Amino acid sequence: MFCDVVGSTRLSHQRDVEAYFSILRAYYDACGPVVERHGGRIAQHQGDGIYVWFGYPVPKEDDATRAVRAGLDLLVVLRRLSASLEVEVGEPLAVRIAVHAGEVVVASVENERAPLAFGHTPNLAAKLHQAAPPGTLVVSGEVLRLVEDSFDVEAREAAVLPDGSVVPVYEVVRERQRAGRVGRKWRTPLVGREREREHLQQSWTAVQAGKGAALALVGSRGIGKTRLASTVLAAAGSAQANVLDCACNQLDASTAYRSFRTLLVQAAGIEPDDPPIVSAALLHDHLVDRLGMDQRAATVFGAVLGLPREAAGPALELDPSKLAQVTAELLVDWVVRLAAAAPTVLLVDDVVHADPSSLAVLARLAAARPPRLLLVFTAPSNAVLMSLLPDSPIEIIELEPLASEVAEALIDAVAAASPLEHPEREQILRQGEGVPFYLEELAKAAQEAVDHTTLPMSLTGRLQARLAAPGMDREVVGALAAAGDDLDAAVLASVLRADQEELRDRLGGLLAGDLVVDTGASDSSYRFRHGLITEAAYGLLLQEQRTRLHRRLAEVMTERHASGRPVDWNVVGHHLKAAQRPLDAFEAILTGANEARRSGAIPEALQGYRDALDIVEAVTDPSVRDLLEVRCRLQRGIAAISARGFGAEEAVEDFGRCEQLCRQLGPRPEHLSAATGVYSFYLLQGELAAARRLAEDLRSWVETGHADYRPENALAFGALSFFEGDYTGAVEWLGLAAGRFRAVPLDARTEENWLLPFDPLVATLSHLAPVLWITGRPREAHEAGDRAIARAATLAFPEAPFSMAYAKSYLAWMYAVGGHHETAARFADDVRKIGQRHGFAFWESTGEIHLALARYWTGGQTDAADVVMLHASIWQFLRARVFLPYVLTATAEVRAAMGQPAEAVAAYESAGTLVQETGVCFYEAERLRLLARALPSSREESRAALRQAWELAHRQGALLFELRAALDLARPGEDADAARLSAVIGRFPPGAGYPELNEAQALLAHAPTRT
Ligand SMILES: Nc1ncnc2c1ncn2[C@@H]1O[C@H](COP(=O)(O)OP(=O)(O)O)[C@@H](O)[C@H]1O
Ligand SMILES: [Mg+2]
Repeated sequence: MFCDVVGSTRLSHQRDVEAYFSILRAYYDACGPVVERHGGRIAQHQGDGIYVWFGYPVPKEDDATRAVRAGLDLLVVLRRLSASLEVEVGEPLAVRIAVHAGEVVVASVENERAPLAFGHTPNLAAKLHQAAPPGTLVVSGEVLRLVEDSFDVEAREAAVLPDGSVVPVYEVVRERQRAGRVGRKWRTPLVGREREREHLQQSWTAVQAGKGAALALVGSRGIGKTRLASTVLAAAGSAQANVLDCACNQLDASTAYRSFRTLLVQAAGIEPDDPPIVSAALLHDHLVDRLGMDQRAATVFGAVLGLPREAAGPALELDPSKLAQVTAELLVDWVVRLAAAAPTVLLVDDVVHADPSSLAVLARLAAARPPRLLLVFTAPSNAVLMSLLPDSPIEIIELEPLASEVAEALIDAVAAASPLEHPEREQILRQGEGVPFYLEELAKAAQEAVDHTTLPMSLTGRLQARLAAPGMDREVVGALAAAGDDLDAAVLASVLRADQEELRDRLGGLLAGDLVVDTGASDSSYRFRHGLITEAAYGLLLQEQRTRLHRRLAEVMTERHASGRPVDWNVVGHHLKAAQRPLDAFEAILTGANEARRSGAIPEALQGYRDALDIVEAVTDPSVRDLLEVRCRLQRGIAAISARGFGAEEAVEDFGRCEQLCRQLGPRPEHLSAATGVYSFYLLQGELAAARRLAEDLRSWVETGHADYRPENALAFGALSFFEGDYTGAVEWLGLAAGRFRAVPLDARTEENWLLPFDPLVATLSHLAPVLWITGRPREAHEAGDRAIARAATLAFPEAPFSMAYAKSYLAWMYAVGGHHETAARFADDVRKIGQRHGFAFWESTGEIHLALARYWTGGQTDAADVVMLHASIWQFLRARVFLPYVLTATAEVRAAMGQPAEAVAAYESAGTLVQETGVCFYEAERLRLLARALPSSREESRAALRQAWELAHRQGALLFELRAALDLARPGEDADAARLSAVIGRFPPGAGYPELNEAQALLAHAPTRT
């Protein structure tokens, strides 16, 4: 293969030249891994061009195919790189590639490190490439003959050599789609099933004509579902349609998007060992260039495939739950677009084992039935299918056992080489019960048996006899049985500590006996032909062998992860568990569950945590068990909250248990963050007594040797004091925390010491600002607010927007309480926008609430109270109750102002009930004061409430609230209590500048002096 850069000669600026060379360098960096991955070797550089050899030193049968594939991959990679150059410089960069095959003389040359190739072949490759238009790959007639089954080509203008001879040139347009897992070739010819095939064929014809359809093949194991489904794949494959198939396996049923990963990889032509830069380029090519999706889709699907960020593009900064929603929508859109481009068959084999995330997307597709899409499922029964895809209208094709004449035809087809004797045939027919798989295997066993008298009776016995027969490699059988799923050739070779050449030999007998099948693509992967064979093979293994093989499988998968390949932690965990290594299995499964949680795949995450807890339960050493249990339950609680709020059953159970275990186990670094997580769980629900318990625990730990956790503990007490209404305490604790956090390098934070999604210093300052405002120090309050915002702006996603929303929501509240509704509205709107942009539902509703309230006071938004209640119901659903007493009170105030006194009083009272229930008292003085205003009945009652308000504010140190109550008590016409009022005024620092202060002073100036 000769590959040369068609450079731009019109680069005028130095900046352009630099950009050009940086792209060129990225391209050369990519060449090595791409070529290597296809078994080639970069042999010579010639100017900008490179010669790549395939088939040296050891020639292989598919060298030409590999060379063409490598060339196509290089084109895709360069096209991606060139796109960014074009944006920067306005000039693209392209390569021209030519592949030729023939005899070569390879010789060492003095002063050259590596041998060089001589002769006609390399020269012709170099000549041919000049006939290739930029950005294309051409091959000679010699190569075409070797690869024409696999690629679509078009003839180009022939090349004329210096000697005048003319050489035909063909451009390779694309690789034909390779057979997927199910669409591979089957050994036994298909018998019977005419009616079902007809049905399938009709559906496919209708789909090609523009309809959409979803159908399911239903029946027991071995009845022939997959075999039948493959007929429609074959029909579609020869009709230039999109053919996608995936088979679901119980092992990775809790790996999010497992099925769609297979489908995406297949559609984009990605293979397991492609370097990330190639995978990302192929994905982009498929999604953006071919289907017209945007870069966002490439990024999101890159994450689904587990591609590293550098390759897939910068992450979308979304909350996990929003990310999950976006991913699902994009996947639906992807399939719809595929079908719009060409009729498409999408087969999901054994859908009962599909992961929940994929299933949700499939359900939407089945319900929508987009035009030109044929969805085919296989399932064990109608009932199972209905439970998986409840609201989707799916046509059911039920597979019955074969009628006896069809069954006989099947036996005869299998035993065509040497027909079976009558009694034996009869026995197989009886024993086979019309199930094709049984019939097929019984017939094969009978054929292969040397001595029929020793033939085992059961099907499993016969399968095992075949698997253990001479010529079958025991180790390979064991590895595939333990794997329980498709195994990449590379993984299988590593497990056996063999090289791939040797592997192919050792697989020979199993492949010839059709016990093992190669699942199609150029990069082979292997599995037993049917799950029943896998089970029979597993049954052959002794316990000691199983343990060893599972351990080895886990080892190999982990090693591959270490070298940068994606790995299914659930599968690794399964093998570790089966290898009797529960602690390692726990870690793997927990890692998988945490990954799922972070990507918003909550059902998979919860399943993972459940599995991990099951392992924990079996650990005998109680000290080890309890430590693992805390870790797992804490994470599960968080996952459950993100699905169903603070009231989620699992969350309540898990956090309660965590509290108990943390207390029992005492202070350990990881328990500090765990207890803080549990604390905030209680705090947000307004369970203040429980939150206080944890803060006290933390304090005792801090005092017995965890002094570095002092600032976090001060924040815990500060926030708690605030919500309890202890403003004096809050100022003190929060001031302390702010001072101490400043001294700590915050970048040193890890999950071990801080689990919460916001920055603790921002949280401290956010609470501090309104607390200072309410205690009569507005200037310091402004300062704290400014510092909170400045700090939040220095963080990274997700802490940055989360902390920013946190800070701004407290400032919105502060200004609302202060009566500065314009400013409050501005902050509230920011909070709402942050929530929308990143999918933080909680912040969005918080912003909406503050905004509606502010707009009522600034512009008379008349539906404010209804808007607030709508969003507050989200909080109620989430059981985030700590701010509800304020929200209910503020809504009541709006109702009172709108002339709805009865509704207002009712709302004040329901706020009061919540205060009783929770002990959340930070706005209680104001609630009592406002209630007093709204009470129509007796003046006495109203004054009693006002006096209560004043006393409470006084006790709490809430100076501003105290002033307001005193002012209301001292209004002309009331029992003017000037002494009380002037005492309150006297406690404000000079220059505090609240409008209420001026009002109070004016009132005092005019009040009659009483002695
Ligand atoms: N109609 C058929 N004609 C010939 N062989 C069949 C037929 N149906 C199934 N088989 C064979 O039986 C085996 C089991 O079929 P498969 O489709 O894998 O079963 P299922 O998917 O229902 O478990 C396959 O190896 C297949 O070759
Ligand atoms: Mg099947």
